[in-house]
Amino acid sequence: MAATSAATLPVRSSISFGPKTGAFPKYHNPSAVKVGSRATMASFCGLKALSSVSCESEYSFLGKESSASLEHAFASNVTKEDMGLNHLLQPQASFKVAILGAAGGIGQPLALLIKMSPLVSTLHLYDIANVKGVAADLSHCNTPSEVLDFTGTSELANSLKGVDVVVIPAGVPRKPGMTRDDLFNINANIVKSLMEAVADNCPGAFIHIISNPVNSTVPIAAEVLKQKGVYDPKKLFGVTTLDVVRANTFVAKKKNLRLIDVDVPVVGGHAGITILPLLSKTRPSINLSDEEVEELTFRIQNAGTEVVEAKAGAGSATLSMAYAAARFVESSLRALDGDGDVYECSYVQSDLTELPFFASRVKLGRKGVEALIHSDLQGLTEHEQKALEALKPELKASIEKGIAFVQKQAVAA
Ligand SMILES: NC(=O)c1ccc[n+]([C@@H]2O[C@H](COP(=O)([O-])OP(=O)(O)OC[C@H]3O[C@@H](n4cnc5c(N)ncnc54)[C@H](O)[C@@H]3O)[C@@H](O)[C@H]2O)c1
Repeated sequence: MAATSAATLPVRSSISFGPKTGAFPKYHNPSAVKVGSRATMASFCGLKALSSVSCESEYSFLGKESSASLEHAFASNVTKEDMGLNHLLQPQASFKVAILGAAGGIGQPLALLIKMSPLVSTLHLYDIANVKGVAADLSHCNTPSEVLDFTGTSELANSLKGVDVVVIPAGVPRKPGMTRDDLFNINANIVKSLMEAVADNCPGAFIHIISNPVNSTVPIAAEVLKQKGVYDPKKLFGVTTLDVVRANTFVAKKKNLRLIDVDVPVVGGHAGITILPLLSKTRPSINLSDEEVEELTFRIQNAGTEVVEAKAGAGSATLSMAYAAARFVESSLRALDGDGDVYECSYVQSDLTELPFFASRVKLGRKGVEALIHSDLQGLTEHEQKALEALKPELKASIEKGIAFVQKQAVAA
C-alpha cells in the first residue's frame, strides 16, 4: 500500500476492495456506497496533503456502515487537527478479533486487512512461531486498532480472552497433487486443539474456520464444542466466502459486467464438486449457455487448484483468501454491531438439506446465524439440481469423517 507520500495519489486502489457484500437487499440491487470524504481516505492511507486526495470509490469491502464510520472517525480527526489538538484515532466500535495462525500466508494479509477495520479496537495475533515480527510490523500502521502478539500454546488462552470473533487459518496448505482431504490428518489435529482452547476461553465468540478441509474441520469444531458443553451452532462458520468471490469475478469477466455488480450464491461445501455455484441465481440476471455453465462451474470448483499449481509448491490461495476472510469478518462485525441487513454465504449447521452441515446464504445478526435462506434452493435448474444431489454423498462422507475423528479420540482418551 504505497500511499504514504504522494499528495495526489488516487486512493481508489488503496481502500476500495470490491462490492459492498453481505447485505441481502443490496444483493438484488446493490446500492452505491460513497466513500467520498477526502479526510477519510487521506487519513486511512496516511496521506499528508488531505486536500489533494480524491476518491471516487463507490464500494468498499468494509461496507457502507463501516465506511461511514471511517468517514466520521477521520472527519472528526481532521477537525481536531485543525484545532491544533493532539489526537488519537479511535475505532468506531470496540470489537476484539483473534487470528490463530496469524503468521501464515493467509494470516498475515488477513491481519493487515482487519487492522484497517474501524470496527476493531484490538487485534490478537496468535501462532506457534514468527508472530512477534508480524505484530510489530502491523502495529506501525496508523489505523485505530491495537495489535497484540501471542506465541505458542502457553499464550493461547490469553490470545482468546474477551474475543468477539476468532478466525482460524492455522494449518498446512495444499501442495500440488494434494487434495483437501490429504490435509485432513494434520489440520484435523490442529483445529481440534485450537477449538479446545476456544471452548475454554471464548465460547461465546463467532468462530470462523478457514483451515481445510472445511467440510470436515467445521464438524470437528462442532464436536469439540459439544464435548465441552458450549456448542452454539449459530456462531460456528466455515468460511466459504472465497468461492463467492471467485464466482463473482469469473462470471463478471465472462459476461463483461462490472465486477462490483455481480453476486453469485455458492452453496454445498468447500471442496471440488461440493462447491455449487447457483449461476441461475446470479444478480444481475444473466443468460448463460449450457457450455458456459459447465465451464464456469468447473472453474469455480477448481480455482484453488489453479492457484496451487501456479504457485508450484509455494502454497495455496493466500491473498484472495485473506480478502474473502476479511470480508466475512467485517460482515460479522457489522452484524454484531447491530446492522440488521447482513447476508453472507457460509458453511454452517443447517436444515436446508438432509445433511447436518451445508453452505448457503445466511442472515447474520448479533447472535450469529439468524436465518438460513431457504429460497436459494428453490427453483434450481436441472443442472443445479443434479449437481446438488451429486455433491451430497461426498459432503456427507467429509462431515462423518470429521465427527468420527473427534469421537474416536474421545473414546481412546
Ligand atoms: N477456506 C478457504 O477457502 C481456504 C483457502 C485457502 C487456504 N485455506 C487453508 O488455510 C490454511 C492455512 O493456509 P496458509 O496458506 O496460510 O498456510 P501457511 O502454512 O502459510 O500458514 C499456516 C500458519 O498456521 C500456523 N500453525 C500451524 N499449526 C498451528 C497451531 N497449532 N496453532 C497456531 N498456528 C499454527 C503456522 O505456523 C503458519 O504460520 C490451510 O489449511 C489451507 O488449506 C483455506
